[in-house]
Amino acid sequence: MSDTALQWQRIARPPEGGAVCFDLKVEMHLDHGGTIGLDEQGFAICFRGAFRAWRNRCPHAGSPLDWQPGRFFSEDGEQLLCHTHGARFDPLDGACLAGPCPRGLESLPLRECGDVLEVPLRLAQ
Ligand code: FES
Repeated sequence: MSDTALQWQRIARPPEGGAVCFDLKVEMHLDHGGTIGLDEQGFAICFRGAFRAWRNRCPHAGSPLDWQPGRFFSEDGEQLLCHTHGARFDPLDGACLAGPCPRGLESLPLRECGDVLEVPLRLAQ
C-alpha cells in the first residue's frame, strides 16, 4: 500500500499505555468483480513512547479485541489482549504471544504529524 494512494484521517495521540480508536472503511474486492465496504475500526496505541496502529479485528475469529471501547492492554500493560478468547499480542510488532490466534495483528500505516497522528480512512483488500 503506497502512502500516496491512501486517504488519511487525523486522530489524537494516545497517551502512554493507552489507545485511540478510529473508524476504518474496509473495501473488499470480490472475485467476480464489484466491491463491498465494511465498517470496522482501527486503533492506535502508544507503548514505551512508540506509536503503532492496528486493525481492530482479531486474527482468531475476527471479533474486535476490546471488550470496552478503547481497552486493549493487559492488566500489566505489557501486551495487547483479545477479550473474546484471551489471545495476547506484542504491542510493537503485533506478533501473537499466546492464545488461539493463527497469526499476529494486522498493522495499519501511521504518520506522526505535529500534535496528532494520521491513520488511513480506508483499507483495500
Ligand atoms: S477472537 Fe480473539 S482470541 Fe478468539
